[in-house]
Amino acid sequence: MGKCSSGTVMGLADSYIHVPVLAGEIADMIVWNSSGTYVDGTIGGGGHARAIMDKLDESGRLIGLDKDLEAVRVSRARLAGGGTPRVEIMHRDFSELASVLEAERIPRVDGLLLDLGVSSYQIDTPGRGFSFQSDGPLDMRMDRGGALTAADIVNEGSRDEIERIIGEYGEERQARSVANAIVRNRAKSPLTSTTGLAETIRSAVRRRWAVKSCARVFQALRIAVNQELDRLRTALDNLLPLLSGRGRFGVISYHSLEDRMVKRTFETWASDCICPPGLPQCVCEHERVAVLHTRRAVVASREEVTTNPRARSARFRMIERLPDDQTAR
Ligand SMILES: C[S@@+](CC[C@H](N)C(=O)[O-])C[C@H]1O[C@@H](n2cnc3c(N)ncnc32)[C@H](O)[C@@H]1O
Repeated sequence: MGKCSSGTVMGLADSYIHVPVLAGEIADMIVWNSSGTYVDGTIGGGGHARAIMDKLDESGRLIGLDKDLEAVRVSRARLAGGGTPRVEIMHRDFSELASVLEAERIPRVDGLLLDLGVSSYQIDTPGRGFSFQSDGPLDMRMDRGGALTAADIVNEGSRDEIERIIGEYGEERQARSVANAIVRNRAKSPLTSTTGLAETIRSAVRRRWAVKSCARVFQALRIAVNQELDRLRTALDNLLPLLSGRGRFGVISYHSLEDRMVKRTFETWASDCICPPGLPQCVCEHERVAVLHTRRAVVASREEVTTNPRARSARFRMIERLPDDQTAR
């Protein structure tokens, strides 16, 4: 990791604004052992991490990860002062948590939080290219060391691939018209700016749906660039064994694709039978490995949404791993 003067980091920390969603409620639900080890897999500006740390005693420990180096620098400046509880913040993807913990010689953790998607800081920084409302390069990489940008997808992807990404990850009904407009416009000159792409989207959809279509297409490209659903799938497939007995795993999601994935996985973990409906008797021999703490997703109050509009779409779900003597896994 490159060096960076503390003045620059402090300047970045001042401008990194992100209000954490449901922070108090989530810290109360995740932390059940104040001297335990907890992971914030998407540390961002450290808001949730701070709320978790406030509930730990001097033996507690927090590991923070983020694939965005700016978030790592900011949260280190804010949280990792060398005091207690102990805090380590690393520039890593949460799908790699197993190898992070192995390197740290931490066999299992007491709680894990993923607050998915992008931070307000990332969206509000035009140079990162996440927003169709300000002019910037068509980038959208959370990890700026990553090879693929949104410009690569729109300028080099096939028409079918672009349509698939927009339809699948953006759930945009007019995916075909938008893909056609992208292919038509890029033949004149490459699409390299957020405003250029937004203009292309507007030209392909009805005017009254233009803002929503822009939001959906930008979401779709962001998901594709950062492989967000693949990383979440990998995490859901691998992280349960990293939890201690009674360890808690919570996820905040912001759109239906990721929320559905989390909901189904958590329900499967908490179920003694995963047979298709209609079978006369159970044949799956599935055994539950966790208890579901959120039959319904926890959502933000009206007051919170008023002060933090980003909270409107947040859905929080959490499971607790069964104690070792109650599970075979
Ligand atoms: C919604 S923000 C988290 C904000 C944080 N909870 C706070 O209180 O400031 C999401 C963060 O997760 C990071 N992120 C998204 N996907 C990631 C992944 N697969 N691995 C690591 N970090 C990821 C983003 O870079 C971003 O900083």
